[in-house]
Amino acid sequence: MNPSPIGIFDSGLGGLSVWKEVKKICPSESLIYYADSGNCPYGNRPAEEIIRLSAAITEFLLDKGCKLIVVACNTATSAAIQYLRAHFEVPFVGIEPALKPAATLTRTGHIGVLATRGTFAGEHYRRTREKFASDIAVHIQVGEGLVELVENHQTDTPEAEKLVRQYLEPMLEAKVDQIVLGCTHYPFLLPVMQKIAGERANILNPAPAVAQQVKRLLEKHKIAAPENSEAVYTFFSSGERAQLMEMVGRI
Ligand code: DGL
Repeated sequence: MNPSPIGIFDSGLGGLSVWKEVKKICPSESLIYYADSGNCPYGNRPAEEIIRLSAAITEFLLDKGCKLIVVACNTATSAAIQYLRAHFEVPFVGIEPALKPAATLTRTGHIGVLATRGTFAGEHYRRTREKFASDIAVHIQVGEGLVELVENHQTDTPEAEKLVRQYLEPMLEAKVDQIVLGCTHYPFLLPVMQKIAGERANILNPAPAVAQQVKRLLEKHKIAAPENSEAVYTFFSSGERAQLMEMVGRI
């Protein structure tokens, strides 16, 4: 048993989609969330820079006594998780596009993946695709501009709908019936995505599976908080604290 907090970080507010699921299935765990909104987006940054930023945040979270760290960012997982695991002793949970469930669920043999340029460029994505989706058609789309919409609380604007439509329609026309959200910011655009996709496609958010993995690792390492502990939720941002707290208030 270990009452220390779990650290969760992202390039910005997107990882709150993961935070919310961890909070739901690990209600006794205290959570420290770090939004690197001051450096957001990570998507087009070189891998070395993302490694440097992720290592600095990890050190910050370890200084706060975190017992496990969730890299709640596909782009940072892709660029930095190997480095983090090699340089820090604490267990890490990462996040990657949910190609496996999409490949299992598809009836048309076409799946869509929406992610950042950094995630698509990474070795991690290439290996996952080869392993789970080598025999199906994968339609990829860089979600340029979507992270900024979420960071600026513009998810229910006509601009958001226009951009999401521009990205999803070509996939839907290509008979995609599963759309994988390969960036933790994108679940905040789910209402507009569902409106556009309607019955044509199922949209896959990997955040609940990440939370399950957190629970499994807590049990495996015997570091879960005692049952019925009073969880404390703490938030840090390298950007505007008000922007972060507004989003926390919304979810
Ligand atoms: N939430 C991050 C991810 O999952 C966004 C990346 C970015 O900042 O561009 O990839």
